[in-house]
Amino acid sequence: MTRKLLVAGNWKLNGSITMTNDLIVEIISGLPSSKNFDVAVFPPSIYIPQTANLVGGVVLFGGQTLSEHDQGAYTGEVSGSMLKEFGCQMVLVGHSERRAYYNESNQDIALKFQAALKHGLKPVLCCGETLEQRESRVTEKVVAEQINAVIDLVGIKAFANAVIAYEPVWAIGTGVTASSEQAQTVHAFIRSLLTLKSDTIAPLVPILYGGSVKGSNAKELFSMQDIDGGLIGGASLTSEDFLAICQQADKLSQ
Ligand code: 13P
Repeated sequence: MTRKLLVAGNWKLNGSITMTNDLIVEIISGLPSSKNFDVAVFPPSIYIPQTANLVGGVVLFGGQTLSEHDQGAYTGEVSGSMLKEFGCQMVLVGHSERRAYYNESNQDIALKFQAALKHGLKPVLCCGETLEQRESRVTEKVVAEQINAVIDLVGIKAFANAVIAYEPVWAIGTGVTASSEQAQTVHAFIRSLLTLKSDTIAPLVPILYGGSVKGSNAKELFSMQDIDGGLIGGASLTSEDFLAICQQADKLSQ
């Protein structure tokens, strides 16, 4: 089963009109003219209309989160239909920063995942353990709970149109990357979890790795059997760093 690699940039709370313009123009001009892998960016939602005008069908884009509600008195929220209206194809759900700083529970995240699908957006379900959890050897338990909460609500078939991103919290923004073996072990566990529910869906689901991915470690990570690309934070903020990762994906996709 060959899954297409995906290199996705999560800009988090970074950007400006100028940065959005320059970064996307530079990414597009630096990508190979015919590529066999996918590239996506997740800018802050206010830059999504601008992004939509710049990508020219070459780069996919989406929101960093969405409301579980369609509309109503939910100040500050953005709905799936709004993201879709501006052309988003995807949306992140359950990023560890949303879980940690905005108290999003596994159940909240399952509802957001469901809302994404309802509006025709491909959810990128983020999961991963903290350092404390890894050291207490509960990584698999934590990741299984995060993913099973979603499967319990939407069913395994919904994952035919979803992406999972394994992002160990201890590797995010720290410069400490999980070794390719450490990451592969968890990715294989995630795939086995999906296989228990459906052995036809499990091989289809792209599982990205996130956490201090750089041009220098992307090739080793992306060549592992169950690692289907990366969700990139810091290194997605300059075209040079992001394109260095894309170049590795390109080499592996020939
Ligand atoms: P870094 O690449 O900065 O470690 O961030 C990873 C991440 O959180 C992507 O969603």
